[in-house]
Amino acid sequence: MNAFAYRDGRLHAEGVPLDTLAEAYGTPVYVYSQTAMEDEYCALAEALQGLGARICYAVKANGNVAVIRALARLGAGADVVSGGELARAIAAGVRPTDIVFSGVGKTRDEIARALKAGIGQFNVESEAELALLGEMAATLGLRADTAIRVNPDIAVDTADRIATGSYEHKFGIPIRDAARIYARGSRTPGIRMVGLAAHIGSQILDLSPFESAFAALAECVRALRGAGLAVERLDLGGGLGITYIGETAPGLAGFADIVRRTVGGLGCEITVEPGRRLVGNAGVLLSRVLYTKETPLRRFVIVDAAMNDLLRPTLYGAEHAVLPVVEPAESQETRRVDVVGPVCETGDWLARGADLPAVAEGGLLAIAGAGAYGAVMASFYNGRGLVGEVMVRSDAHAAIRPYQDPATFQALDRLPCWLE
Ligand code: LLP
Repeated sequence: MNAFAYRDGRLHAEGVPLDTLAEAYGTPVYVYSQTAMEDEYCALAEALQGLGARICYAVKANGNVAVIRALARLGAGADVVSGGELARAIAAGVRPTDIVFSGVGKTRDEIARALKAGIGQFNVESEAELALLGEMAATLGLRADTAIRVNPDIAVDTADRIATGSYEHKFGIPIRDAARIYARGSRTPGIRMVGLAAHIGSQILDLSPFESAFAALAECVRALRGAGLAVERLDLGGGLGITYIGETAPGLAGFADIVRRTVGGLGCEITVEPGRRLVGNAGVLLSRVLYTKETPLRRFVIVDAAMNDLLRPTLYGAEHAVLPVVEPAESQETRRVDVVGPVCETGDWLARGADLPAVAEGGLLAIAGAGAYGAVMASFYNGRGLVGEVMVRSDAHAAIRPYQDPATFQALDRLPCWLE
């Protein structure tokens, strides 16, 4: 199902016209299709059938409690990277035993909270973290189920800032040190070593790096077992890409085949941690045109959404499709424009060089592929409000995070006594 399609000349989210949502909630606003998320989840679960794999949704992609709950109801666990995400997953109803805690810099406080919550797995990323986790678990009289996140030193063709699997990157424990540190973990009170984890990057479109990474994990499992160490679980991370402009998302069947071929025969419980793939194309950022203007070189469409609402184009050069909410006639000419926001930075663009039919001031545009790493990366920058989020399911819609007025944030500021 394409959750965002034109019907009767207007772009809809499932059964609801986007202009209705713009009227009801104001703009800019994120609009998600619950059905689209559920469909993606079910498609992945189906592709992985027979592997006994557990899907732990990477909450960082979209941490709204309603989004996590929709996926948890289908059976998803959660991959979290902070105490805040842990709290969100629990509030959404994810069973603590279905929560994996990843991340390169877990604080003492976060580790304590995760231990007390009884989460299913810690993915540790350094020897120092392993020691701290063991010490803290032992003090609490607990044993932390622990995997080592290995860095397999594999290059991935994605944006620099979201590749994670080579020795240039801060992530994981170099795979060549894994056996020594795994053995150390298995002798550490408070730790029960359960397996290995890897995550090589995000928005991966070519499946071959997955194959290399999973094969490296398999080799590592065999080496550990050869040394008499038990390895029960493998966490394969996330990273499956989606279609943005001009890209083709990899097939789930191909991914599942790779999993089967490389690690399927090891008798390990398998976890995957998809984020973007489940929610990315299930959301749009809906925005209204404020003004249009031209310079001798470019045409600008100035909208009410900006880089503080959707940072991906500015930060990664990501290209999101822009769709007019009123369906253009086929004969309608397009013009090359930059869709930009009100923030005072040249880099504040949502799309550059987009071919769009003429859009009037007051018209609505939907920025596609905004369900992942959109609202979660939003800020109050430039004294702007915090963008709201709306969930649609069939003909129903609800605010799942209301727009936050700038005054909400301003109210947190305090004057030091010497400035009062
Ligand atoms: N597991 C771990 C350990 C991760 O670090 C990540 C993403 C995932 C799973 C989920 O990856 P996904 O399936 O979503 O690709 N803000 C960036 C993406 C950052 C991804 C960080 N880690 C963007 O907007 O492209």
